[in-house]
Amino acid sequence: MALLSIQDLTVHYFTRKGAVRAVEDVSVELEQDQTLGLIGESGCGKSTMVSALMRFVTPPGRIVSGKIVFKDRDIVPISDEEMRKLRGKEIAMVFQAAQNALNPVLTIGKQIVEEILEHENVTKEEAWDRAKNQLELVGLDRNRIKSYPHEFSGGMKQRVMIAIATACDPELLILDEPVTGLDVIVQRQLLVLITDLRAKIRLPIIFITHDLSVITETCDNVAVMYAGKIIEEASTIELYQEPMHPYSQLLISSYPSIKGEKRTLKSIPGAPPDLVELPTGCSFHPRCPYAMDICRKEEPMLQIMDGHRVACHLIK
Ligand SMILES: Nc1ncnc2c1ncn2[C@@H]1O[C@H](COP(=O)(O)OP(=O)(O)OP(=O)(O)O)[C@@H](O)[C@H]1O
Ligand SMILES: [Mg+2]
Repeated sequence: MALLSIQDLTVHYFTRKGAVRAVEDVSVELEQDQTLGLIGESGCGKSTMVSALMRFVTPPGRIVSGKIVFKDRDIVPISDEEMRKLRGKEIAMVFQAAQNALNPVLTIGKQIVEEILEHENVTKEEAWDRAKNQLELVGLDRNRIKSYPHEFSGGMKQRVMIAIATACDPELLILDEPVTGLDVIVQRQLLVLITDLRAKIRLPIIFITHDLSVITETCDNVAVMYAGKIIEEASTIELYQEPMHPYSQLLISSYPSIKGEKRTLKSIPGAPPDLVELPTGCSFHPRCPYAMDICRKEEPMLQIMDGHRVACHLIK
């Protein structure tokens, strides 16, 4: 049984311009012990999709339809109270630009302790001990437990966010661009930390990043999102070596690699579509170098081909 099964999930933002179709009919599964990377250009719905897993979609956004089955239970209809119990304890998330999410007037220790006391039946003393252990787990000095967020660098604050997210031994961790905006050395340290954590606590992870090299190092499978939909999914090796969808091919060739042969970088012409007025047929057809008549008329369905799930009329 999959740990997480997202089934036909649709999330819209109801704006004055119309419904922004940020996530449209997305289905994806995550097995125990698996790491799934989620890639795609800015605005294609990655953060919205994972926010839905935490039921953090707020007005004007709404989960319109679909199921999010986590450990055999659909969490879309459960009460806010039940969801609060689940958040942090069973599913934890480090948000995009998470460092800004720390409370500036509370010590970092207090913020980790609050998370532990919310979910675990332990004394305050035990919670403080665990908080110190958490700091060590993410490579910070346990004696800095009484420091305030402003006394830490961006990379250190990001470590604190990971310490909070993993404080109650969650069963699924979602990382939404955890290293974006940090210098490359700190990025590398954080990635090593995430890989170590995964080895130490065997935590299934959903990892969103624009850095494709990060995905190759950390993820078993990759799903590519475009205009609110998953257009291809495969094992990381398969997807990088033999991307099938023209969008995946362009996305991968637009990313520089310092290993292997020198190659010319390609950029993807145009921009992703307005999610209020999607093109007919395949959403990618206006930018696709191989667009055919059928692509303008009919939306391609996801089909399984050579171990990939791919939605493209070229694949037969
Ligand atoms: N609160 C909101 N109100 C209206 N539209 C929103 C809101 N939040 C997100 N959107 C729209 O939903 C779409 C998906 O946004 P989302 O943040 O999920 O993209 P993303 O793939 O995470 O992008 P990025 O890589 O830039 O983080 C975008 O078109 C965005 O403008
Ligand atoms: Mg995002």
